[in-house]
Amino acid sequence: MSDASASAVPATPATSGKAGVALSRVQRRAAEAVLGVLVGANADSALARLDCSGFDGATRAALTDLTYGTLRFLGETRGMVRLFVHQKPEPLIEALLWIAVYQLRHSKTASHVVVSQAVAAVAEVNRAAKGFANAVLRNYLRGPEEALTRACERDEALWNHPSWWISRLQQEQPEWWEAILRGGNGSGPLTLRVNRRRSTAETLCAALAAKKIDAEALSAHTVVLRRPRPVERLPGFRAGDFSVQDAGAQLAAPLLGAKSGMRVLDACAAPGGKAAHLLELADIDLLALDVDATRCQRIAENFARLGLRADVRTADAALPAAWWDGRPFDRILLDAPCTGSGVVRRHPDGKWLKRESDIAQLAAQQRRLLDALWPLVAPGGRLLYATCSVFRAENSQQVEAALARHADMRRIRINLPGDPASSGGQLLPGGNRKTHNHDGYFYALLEKAPS
Ligand SMILES: C[S@@+](CC[C@H](N)C(=O)[O-])C[C@H]1O[C@@H](n2cnc3c(N)ncnc32)[C@H](O)[C@@H]1O
Repeated sequence: MSDASASAVPATPATSGKAGVALSRVQRRAAEAVLGVLVGANADSALARLDCSGFDGATRAALTDLTYGTLRFLGETRGMVRLFVHQKPEPLIEALLWIAVYQLRHSKTASHVVVSQAVAAVAEVNRAAKGFANAVLRNYLRGPEEALTRACERDEALWNHPSWWISRLQQEQPEWWEAILRGGNGSGPLTLRVNRRRSTAETLCAALAAKKIDAEALSAHTVVLRRPRPVERLPGFRAGDFSVQDAGAQLAAPLLGAKSGMRVLDACAAPGGKAAHLLELADIDLLALDVDATRCQRIAENFARLGLRADVRTADAALPAAWWDGRPFDRILLDAPCTGSGVVRRHPDGKWLKRESDIAQLAAQQRRLLDALWPLVAPGGRLLYATCSVFRAENSQQVEAALARHADMRRIRINLPGDPASSGGQLLPGGNRKTHNHDGYFYALLEKAPS
């Protein structure tokens, strides 16, 4: 079910930015990016590969919005275009039609501008297809609501998720599947975690208010902005006063409960959001690992900006023989690689990139990590297992199987705020949107028996 209000994007003029880039060029680049995602690239790398010469910051932002918006509503958009297309056109032309239909439905750009620009973009790809594109878009405009109703006879259009994803959730979460899908189609707020070594939510809100930026303190160290904006330009970002972090992700560090003096491992740490939070909360001896060297650089950069220090190393956490000095850890955070099915409101490309078979592969990787790291937990110590997924195989089933394999492992009950489904460790994406607006996360706190 679409949530048009969540994605209503401002009007884009026929030209964008100081250089006056034609909307047709932006539409074409967005169509190329969406196609890039459908052949397996994530949206950011598909966008990074495009020739955007002459695009200034505002035009790039418009391109990103158009690409992400189309991906968020790709189910209904594809479904509606399909109604008016009797012979499948070449992929780039079809993708341009998706872009235009998305804009017609979800942006405030005048429909004649969207259509004329999209038709111009199609003509650049194939002059002979101009009339066809014009006819499809005009036919759509004759009855957009009816088109939506007809398209939504298919679940993929109704819920804007792949059909395997919908069926799986219906089976696994009979009570919550609709809330999960709806939450995944929303758009997450810009949530900040204040670096408590440097500031407070109150001080940050005052600094934002001085710049006429509307923000609200959700807790002593969490601030939500009413409207998203480039984070680098917010007061105090460069000085390390805060980080961008979803409210659900901000639960990890307090749940792990690391105290000053403890030896702590963040096994899958990049880009370092949760690791930085751990360091802000207590004076711990932290080892932050990630298997990806480029992403490890981002951990180091984030720590430097925030004025935090830890041992950052590139290593495979599942092979401790290569990096562990034999001293046990009081606390381990295992924020495992996962499908990301809980964070699709921020990464809508994930809905179309993942295959159902990825779940079993990732679950095997998660199991390997859990089993490799468990022996490193000190007697009486704790490991927080976390994913940003909503699929059981990565979450409750993974933890139940681990409990069955390890006699010295027990699960500690945790309270997750504001979610009816949270008792099992699962935060629903979107939360209740008013007091708790977060991505979908899973947390299980596991304690090792004292020796
Ligand atoms: C969910 S992300 C971690 C996010 C991070 N905890 C944060 O809050 O910023 C998962 C990370 O696991 C890393 N990863 C995947 N397999 C790994 C392995 N075998 N060992 C260490 N890191 C791994 C990925 O490179 C990725 O950066």
